[in-house]
Amino acid sequence: MKNVALLILAGAVLAGCTTGNVKVSDFSSVKGYTLTNKNGMEVKITNYGATITSIIVPDREGNMADVALGYDSADQYVNALVRDYFGAVVGRYGNRIAEGKFSIDGKEYTLATNNGENHLHGGLMGFDKVVWTAQTVENGVKLSYLAKDGEEGYPGNLMLSVTYTLTDDNEIVMHYEATTDKATIVNVTNHTYFNLKGEGSDTVLDHVLQINGSKTTPVDAGLIPTGEFADVTGTPFDFRQPKVIGKDINANDQQIKYGPGYDHNWVLDRKGGGLELAATLYEPKSGRVLEVFTEEPCIQFYSGNFLQGNLTGKSGRVWNRRSALCLETQHAPDSINHEGEAGWPSVILRPGEKYDTTTIYKFSVK
Ligand code: GLA
Repeated sequence: MKNVALLILAGAVLAGCTTGNVKVSDFSSVKGYTLTNKNGMEVKITNYGATITSIIVPDREGNMADVALGYDSADQYVNALVRDYFGAVVGRYGNRIAEGKFSIDGKEYTLATNNGENHLHGGLMGFDKVVWTAQTVENGVKLSYLAKDGEEGYPGNLMLSVTYTLTDDNEIVMHYEATTDKATIVNVTNHTYFNLKGEGSDTVLDHVLQINGSKTTPVDAGLIPTGEFADVTGTPFDFRQPKVIGKDINANDQQIKYGPGYDHNWVLDRKGGGLELAATLYEPKSGRVLEVFTEEPCIQFYSGNFLQGNLTGKSGRVWNRRSALCLETQHAPDSINHEGEAGWPSVILRPGEKYDTTTIYKFSVK
């Protein structure tokens, strides 16, 4: 507990808010938590959307910067012109489900559609837009949410928690646990947008990325996987060796055109089932490094293509197109519609089973 300070976010209580589905009364329970470690690293979290609002880490000279896009208060998350999942936990199913339709054991379900004809990141009121119950734990905070049977169209009461802890090795550990009372699907991830030069800096096209994946799941124009696996060799998607993100981001390639840019799922080259390094992001000027470790089979690399320069964050600086990127550990988008096919691990959670998965963001310099 020594490293966790509790502070209430300024402006968390909303007056006259225009959020439609959100009960204003919920906002009286919006809280903010600050985790700090012995190196001076500081992480801020709110129970609104189980959101990481700030990550302050040193560069190679020891200068601190906030490398995560975010806001200072919950009302800014709610009232933003574009609510793009900044720092939040997305679910019950992260990323897309084709036409919001799937079936389990022969029973069909229809989800809310919020991305053209498709379902994205949990629907209209996904986990990023609800208030979670918060409880401090040693070196962190545990956030819990009961997603009701039928919410956004999903079956089953899902009891979900994410425990965020900060270690003295500059790791943010995200431990997700869930149980259900009816067969359902679960695929949650964190949607932090990173710029290792600091939030609100110019593009991330100069960042160097390495992804431990030799296959992607190619998509159609709606960013729904076609069901095939594509070898990255000789394509803009080959990040097996560290590569500058800007190098191939505008390549004359059909998948890149669909993005437009990177918005794709890599199947990780895993050795086993434990925590393994999925991706390493490096920014040469500051020397900051982010390593992503996960137990998940896949990772979505999204190069901030939909940021438009119409939002400003906590520092007052504008978030331009491709000025931040996400590395979302996950099961592949639309997996439920490939259930049972080779290479598509199941996303079904049944009563009596436990969903239990950990992802770590680890910061360092070189
Ligand atoms: C994910 C998706 C993107 C986009 C962002 C949020 O990364 O794959 O297409 O929806 O989230 O804007």
